[in-house]
Amino acid sequence: MAITIRPAILLLPLLLSLFLRSSAQNCLNETFSNNKLYDRCSSLVLLSATLHWTYHPSNGTADIAYRAPQNSSGFVAWAINPSSSGMIGANALLAFHNSSGAVTVISYVFNSYSPSVRDSKLSFTVYSREAEYSNGAYTIYATVALAGNKTTLNTVWQAGQVTGGVPVGHATTGDNIKSKGSTNFLSG
Ligand SMILES: *[C@@H]1O[C@H](CO)[C@@H](O)[C@H](O)[C@H]1NC(C)=O
Ligand SMILES: *[C@@H]1O[C@H](CO)[C@@H](O)[C@H](O)[C@H]1NC(C)=O
Ligand SMILES: *[C@@H]1O[C@H](CO)[C@@H](O)[C@H](O)[C@H]1NC(C)=O
Ligand SMILES: *[C@@H]1O[C@H](CO)[C@@H](O)[C@H](O)[C@H]1NC(C)=O
Ligand SMILES: *[C@@H]1O[C@H](CO)[C@@H](O)[C@H](O)[C@H]1NC(C)=O
Repeated sequence: MAITIRPAILLLPLLLSLFLRSSAQNCLNETFSNNKLYDRCSSLVLLSATLHWTYHPSNGTADIAYRAPQNSSGFVAWAINPSSSGMIGANALLAFHNSSGAVTVISYVFNSYSPSVRDSKLSFTVYSREAEYSNGAYTIYATVALAGNKTTLNTVWQAGQVTGGVPVGHATTGDNIKSKGSTNFLSG
């Protein structure tokens, strides 16, 4: 009897490790400009996004690289939500082509469902930020103070439309309303 159930018991951790490995695989092979390297990565799955980061416990900051496919006339965004989950309260970094045709990254705190997105301060320090567009994907690079020195934070990510050089909206169905979660900056 014990012999017949043992394979099933062995199978669960095996399946789990296969699953974890395959969810990491989509990010492990990604490379970045200037040979930037990060300690950890996570495939965020929804919107085909990935997040890479290095956490510095000595000063509570994280260097991040967020990459997601998008056409060159749309935007991508990655946010920490220090006060809640989802869009309201999201402290976001948004990358897009602005009205000069340049790839730019701005920051904005979403406090309503009909925001007027413009570059403004977040509730935590952003030490650096830049973005690039290549091979049909934006990559946002930033160094941020992890809000409240926490190592697990609610995060939200998004992709949507730009009008007149400003991000204006996104689909409110499917992956675009599920793309949120909790990121543990010590694991991944
Ligand atoms: C990384 O691997 C995944 C899964 O095999 C693949 O879909 C993706 O295109 C690869 N990315 C790069 C940059 O090679
Ligand atoms: C945080 O600490 C790391 C590692 O000690 C260091 O490389 C980095 O420059 C520091 N970042 C800031 C914003 O002070
Ligand atoms: C975060 O923790 C580090 C290390 O303990 C400390 O130096 C830093 O001041 C803290 N930052 C905040 C915003 O509390
Ligand atoms: C577009 O972005 C570039 C790079 O960030 C910036 O130099 C330029 O001033 C921006 N143009 C407009 C119209 O905002
Ligand atoms: C680019 O993506 C945005 C947002 O997903 C979409 O609204 C727009 O129609 C797309 N444009 C093109 C040219 O595919």
